[in-house]
Amino acid sequence: MKRMICAGNWKMNKGPQAVEDFLKIFLESVPKDAEMDFILFPQNLVLSQVASRLKGRAVGFGAQNCYWEKHGAFTGENSPEVLKELGAGYCLVGHSERRQIFKESDEDMARKVRALQDLDLLPVLCIGETLDQRTTGKTNAILDVQLSIGLKNLSAGKKFWIAYEPVWAIGTGVVAEVPQVAEAHQFIFKKLQSLVGAAASQVKILYGGSVKPDNAKALAKVEHVDGFLIGGASLDPKNFIGCH
Ligand code: PGA
Repeated sequence: MKRMICAGNWKMNKGPQAVEDFLKIFLESVPKDAEMDFILFPQNLVLSQVASRLKGRAVGFGAQNCYWEKHGAFTGENSPEVLKELGAGYCLVGHSERRQIFKESDEDMARKVRALQDLDLLPVLCIGETLDQRTTGKTNAILDVQLSIGLKNLSAGKKFWIAYEPVWAIGTGVVAEVPQVAEAHQFIFKKLQSLVGAAASQVKILYGGSVKPDNAKALAKVEHVDGFLIGGASLDPKNFIGCH
């Protein structure tokens, strides 16, 4: 049985009180023998709080985004160096909301992936096609470009993961069907082999997009699905744990 990743992307939700409420229930309820590794991605304003509450616990945490420079005159940005200092292990890169709303480019992703790897933080590069791209048969071409550019500055030997999140499945309740997920993850794995050779088998490929307790079991069985990136269902501790 493969050990899965269960990552919760809280997006711009949960202030300090909601974080306390979540963690109280979550830390009491998370099974000791869970077959999944849990990781939380809160908004940066509560990262220190999450960091101190998770000290000594087998639950990882990271940021939803950060800048590629370590520090300096970049008003409003978040430093990967500070993320490291807080004890985070991970950072999402290129979530579709960053790409669509904040106009981040694949070139931006490449810089962020490298900056995180240089600090031994694990970047989780998010990729995925829109509905229009899927219905016009461009899914693989889009994934190919997002992987080729986003990973072009990789640091040899440093870890990274991929999150495949079809944009049409994010927050819509429409989960991709098992054959669609299987095909995309197979394509991503093959592309990773062409980019990093045998090291591709070390790269976790998460699926994201309307994952819930009632569809997680079937998705977990798909080859090259190594875990989930969960938005809506991660806001409630019982639902989040239920995805394992
Ligand atoms: P969702 O979000 O689970 O609410 O679809 C997933 C994500 O955006 O990472």
